[in-house]
Amino acid sequence: MPINKPLLGKEEEAAVLGVLDSGLLTNPSPEGGPNVRAFEAELATYVHAKHSIAVNSGTAALQLALMAAGIKPGDEVIVPSFTFIATASAVMLTGAKPVFVDIDRNSFNMDPSVLRYAITGKTKAVIPVDLYGLPANLEEISEEARSRGIMLIEDACQAQGSSIKGKMAGTLGDMGCFSFYPGKVMTTGEGGALITDDDALADRLRKMRTHGQVKGYDSAMLGGNFRMPEIEAAMGRVQLRKLPGFLKKRTDNAERLTELLRGTAVVPPLVPEGMRHNWYLYTIRCGNSSDRDRLKTEMNKEGIGATVYYPTPVHRTPYYEGLGFGNIRLTETERAASCVLSLPVNPMVQDGDLERIASIVKRCL
Ligand SMILES: Cc1ncc(COP(=O)(O)O)c(C=O)c1O
Repeated sequence: MPINKPLLGKEEEAAVLGVLDSGLLTNPSPEGGPNVRAFEAELATYVHAKHSIAVNSGTAALQLALMAAGIKPGDEVIVPSFTFIATASAVMLTGAKPVFVDIDRNSFNMDPSVLRYAITGKTKAVIPVDLYGLPANLEEISEEARSRGIMLIEDACQAQGSSIKGKMAGTLGDMGCFSFYPGKVMTTGEGGALITDDDALADRLRKMRTHGQVKGYDSAMLGGNFRMPEIEAAMGRVQLRKLPGFLKKRTDNAERLTELLRGTAVVPPLVPEGMRHNWYLYTIRCGNSSDRDRLKTEMNKEGIGATVYYPTPVHRTPYYEGLGFGNIRLTETERAASCVLSLPVNPMVQDGDLERIASIVKRCL
């Protein structure tokens, strides 16, 4: 019972074969090929946004967002440390400095109340992460960012389909970034997308994803090859159609698991009023690290893919420690890294599996 896995069928196979038959594997114009254009239009409709720009990974989406925002060496960008490494590494790739801030104990997401203390004259952007698929407190973060003239880039790489008061994850900042990596709630193999309502940013993003080229080989600005191939976009179109069904099953599983875990020694995930969770990851909190590790070992022994996201906060990973970030104290981040455990609720998980998971929790703790 893996924590997550791609769910692919005959429809994806037919879509991919259709691209192979067409021979049109990519299109280096800023607009992209037919499948890229169609995927972008469908994704923009799904999240109720003006523009969607498909790229070749979530990391590429983050890097491109920062480039389009004009982030450069000497700038500072505020990020959580309790996230996948890409959030911070995208900042490093622009030459700017990531400024790590702590998280809220209950949501595991960026704590808006610490933001004001992290902002300096060099702060140009903030990247809240919708960790595990639960949107960050973007209302408060956005208020602070806007009042200080700071660009808000939402790392919604894990949050496709989530929302706050009906507003879709990915649309809550100036730009939003998705990942379609195979473990995500929908996949294109590798892939990602940017979301924005800003026409000028969308135009820059489209050009920058293909070397800043406007016409032929004329580069009008610095860019790179961030293009999504046609095969991926064709798969994405099918997966996007299946997404509501996938998310329904995840929600049913998550709700059932919360019911089964009631009264046990673990704390199930909390979903604040008005938020919709996509249940990419169902993450419990254990009392301490030894309980967590014991529970994980027991689950894994029984073939349940319980996994820790993330055992090492980004600032404590060897590369960032080597840069001197290891001395920062982020109490809640470190506490979370020591006691969280994600349990499978993906669409393949059945009711009997959830009962087995809950019975291991009861036996073990
Ligand atoms: C929070 C977060 N940010 C960024 C990324 C990067 O996405 P990708 O792996 O598609 O480059 C991921 C993917 O795992 C992620 O979970």
